[in-house]
Amino acid sequence: MKKAIIAALVAVVRAAPFGQSDLDSLPTTCNQTALAEAADAYIAAQTAGQLAPLLAITAANWTYLENNQAVSISTTGSATGSILAKALKLDHRRTNFDLTACATYTELVSAADPANPYVIGTQIRHSTDPSAPQKVVSIDSIVSTTGAWLFDAKKTLDHILHENWTTILPASARDARSVLQAAGDAYLDMWSNTTADKAVPWGTPCTRLEGSAYTGRGRPDDSCKAGIPSNHNQAPNTHRRYVIDEAMGSVSVFCVWEHMMNAADSHELRLEGGKLRYVHTMTSCGSKVCKL
Ligand SMILES: *[C@@H]1O[C@H](CO)[C@@H](O)[C@H](O)[C@H]1NC(C)=O
Ligand SMILES: *[C@@H]1O[C@H](CO)[C@@H](O)[C@H](O)[C@H]1NC(C)=O
Ligand SMILES: *[C@@H]1O[C@H](CO)[C@@H](O)[C@H](O)[C@H]1NC(C)=O
Ligand SMILES: *[C@@H]1O[C@H](CO)[C@@H](O)[C@H](O)[C@H]1NC(C)=O
Repeated sequence: MKKAIIAALVAVVRAAPFGQSDLDSLPTTCNQTALAEAADAYIAAQTAGQLAPLLAITAANWTYLENNQAVSISTTGSATGSILAKALKLDHRRTNFDLTACATYTELVSAADPANPYVIGTQIRHSTDPSAPQKVVSIDSIVSTTGAWLFDAKKTLDHILHENWTTILPASARDARSVLQAAGDAYLDMWSNTTADKAVPWGTPCTRLEGSAYTGRGRPDDSCKAGIPSNHNQAPNTHRRYVIDEAMGSVSVFCVWEHMMNAADSHELRLEGGKLRYVHTMTSCGSKVCKL
């Protein structure tokens, strides 16, 4: 990789997959404070059901995707037709930081309000253009609610609150960006690739929160292998978008889960010491009820 083109790669890394050495050589340049402020503004907007807090930090040309569909709220300033128009009382929120791609992934749950059960994953991407640094250029949300795959916001919240997502310390124990992305890719490749399951760095214990279904029983031998695809000839999981946080050991991947009615899907994996520890999924089939 020639140094001269690395800067260009930073700008497009979100759009294209790269080889492992390319990914690890990307510089860490993003401003975490600015990323955190944007994630907070997004939470403020969702809590209020108002776009105003977001419009203060978005680039003029920002785009909004909801369940893999473009929703044109950027030009009108109105959130009508999107989840952002609905004030949600959030019971949980966690944000991960990708300091190479200048992006965040936020997991949020609204469970206590019976009228508005939601489990939402949101990737926010920032400009790396020096003339407009830090502005938000895209917000990309997977919004799951009643009808989504294995949906039950209360159960999901309960499982999340019993998990331990702490920063991985010491820093020397963190897995490389390429390792995290490869784990996410191998996992999502299991549907369409006969050898991908062997490339997943399975850990023990490992627990998968699939919608609200939990593979964990609080035992040291908990496994994430329960119910993984045995048919590797299914449609691939396409249009992947990544947010990778080495400090959290996490990779968030949004995709089209083609085998599940072309659902809008979020998979988030956490590795500890190179081994898979947690998997969280959210899968929306839009106005339809998800069925395999
Ligand atoms: C990082 O972002 C914060 C918040 O926007 C800002 O106050 C600070 O000056 C930025 N730091 C750098 C080095 O640009
Ligand atoms: C949107 O604006 C940002 C900030 O000015 C810029 O970096 C980016 O290239 C623009 N994107 C498009 C698609 O025009
Ligand atoms: C969570 O994980 C950290 C780091 O592995 C560990 O130090 C801490 O004791 C754990 N907390 C709980 C409640 O298990
Ligand atoms: C299948 O998965 C293996 C392990 O992840 C990988 O090395 C291989 O390139 C994949 N094959 C295809 C066709 O994607």
